[in-house]
Amino acid sequence: MAIAARSGHRCVAMLGIGAYRPTRLVSNDEVCEVLDSSDEWIFERSGIRNRRWISGDETARSMAAEAAGRAIRNSGVPKDKIGALILATNSWKTKIPHGGPIIAFDIGLNGIPAYDVAAGCGGFGYGLGIAADTVRAGSAEYVLVVGVETMSVVMEPTDRNTAFIFGDGAGAVVVGPSEENGISPTVWGSDGENAEAIGQNYDIPEYMDRAQEWQHKDPESEPVGRMVVTMQGSRVFRWAAITLPKALTTVLETSGVSIDDIEVFVPHQANARINELMKKNLGLADDVPMANDIENTGNTSAASIPLAMEEMLASGKAKGGQTALLLGFGAGLSYAGAVVTLPPAPKESSLEG
Ligand code: UT7
Repeated sequence: MAIAARSGHRCVAMLGIGAYRPTRLVSNDEVCEVLDSSDEWIFERSGIRNRRWISGDETARSMAAEAAGRAIRNSGVPKDKIGALILATNSWKTKIPHGGPIIAFDIGLNGIPAYDVAAGCGGFGYGLGIAADTVRAGSAEYVLVVGVETMSVVMEPTDRNTAFIFGDGAGAVVVGPSEENGISPTVWGSDGENAEAIGQNYDIPEYMDRAQEWQHKDPESEPVGRMVVTMQGSRVFRWAAITLPKALTTVLETSGVSIDDIEVFVPHQANARINELMKKNLGLADDVPMANDIENTGNTSAASIPLAMEEMLASGKAKGGQTALLLGFGAGLSYAGAVVTLPPAPKESSLEG
């Protein structure tokens, strides 16, 4: 007897991209109606002028489904060929149930394997790497990777460390076989020693550690609260300055391309100043376009890279088929990077909606 093994396609690529941006644009001045800060300080330190926050009927669920549907239609891949869905998110409102199966149901793909990846703002890079390896291994032929966040719901509007940074949105890509390889091996890692630099103040792990205590208490007296993100910004900045340049060098070595081959740079949209420094230190030419979606979208955590790619493609700042360097990083502290071939510009874009 021999146990069957499968193998898939050695060459994989992003075949289509889609995104959804909330309709409500929130300026720095509006944030500063309750936050002790200023438009000048926020723009100077982070590069943010506006962010988008959900309003009306918009939810993580509706945004993820819209972005996913657009990515499938833009890819031209028949929907019923999609064999798995990976949802990268940190702000999905429940751990149980996780969001992936719900989004699969919403887009008419009920039944496919669908699961969540929580890897901080680097989550999309983790999802993309897992999707590429899933296609390479033959576990699915086409995989949908969706990043979605409603960070506006999980932050404290008066917290000077977080309230001006985060935004909401969703982005998605379809990964599948291609003639030439368009996704390098993922370069990824984490630093749990510094994990508390980005955290949450409704501490579920602590709650779990004290499970016996809570289990024997009157349910009425159990603590209730919403999860609120906390961040020691300058600590993350210092970690980023040491870790990310090494990660970027390793991405280039691993992917077998040189810095001169990189035509587009799409770093996580955490802080435009971090990104400008990375670009300079890496030695990328001044005329290589770099994503700056943060200026009017804010930091959308695990959704930031697909949103930023989509913005560049839809606005013509980047073109489908160009070689791009991606790098996500954030809570964990985690990072994930890859060299990719950009998918075609989206026919249905979030900039029109
Ligand atoms: O997406 C996940 C990954 N996250 C990141 O990569 C974030 C990385 N970190 C950052 O982007 C930056 O650290 C921030 C933009 C969050 C903060 O910028 P910073 O330049 O590191 O500010 P800081 O915390 O070092 O504070 C500098 C000064 C302090 O005043 P003094 O001591 O110099 O007088 C703060 O009290 O700015 C003050 N400050 C503020 N002022 C106005 C801190 N927060 C604010 C604020 N508005 N919101």
